Amino acid sequence: MCRPALLLRDTLEVALLDPTFGSAFFERLFTAHPHLRARFVQNSSGAQQKMFAQKLCAVVDGIEDPDVLVREAQAIARTHRGYGATLEMYTWVGDALVETLRVLAADAWSDEAEVAWRAAYDALVRAISEASAA
Ligand code: HEM
Repeated sequence: MCRPALLLRDTLEVALLDPTFGSAFFERLFTAHPHLRARFVQNSSGAQQKMFAQKLCAVVDGIEDPDVLVREAQAIARTHRGYGATLEMYTWVGDALVETLRVLAADAWSDEAEVAWRAAYDALVRAISEASAA
């Protein structure tokens, strides 16, 4: 596994040891962008938090396989079109994610980890955007 992929895996693993990961992420997102809260209506907040964390794990596990990235991106694009997610909203989600990881990964976090997460998230959003346009 290359170093950025290891950094993603290790930091996510440490952050997920904290049971508040999912709620901390959504609280950060909704505090910065309160109007987003009203969009999350289908599932309980616990279920949303679990699904988001599971999806991150799937993306990080497959990060070195372009087929996995495209497959995950297509699935997200398919459902998220219906949720009205825009590119700007994806940047908000990315910021809330990186900030939550930075706090909860604590000592495992580094500038290098931040660069790796930003690059991986950007690659995922690019793939989602391409899948949405297709
Ligand atoms: C790469 C970033 C994102 C990931 C990995 C992600 C992941 C997920 C997952 C796994 C679900 C569960 C259901 C499903 O798969 O459709 C979901 C639901 C949802 N997502 Fe995202 N999402 C992302 C970005 C966004 C953005 C930018 C928005 C902005 C509006 C958004 C809005 C929603 C909504 C409204 C739901 C339905 C929740 C509910 O009503 O229970 N997501 N997301």
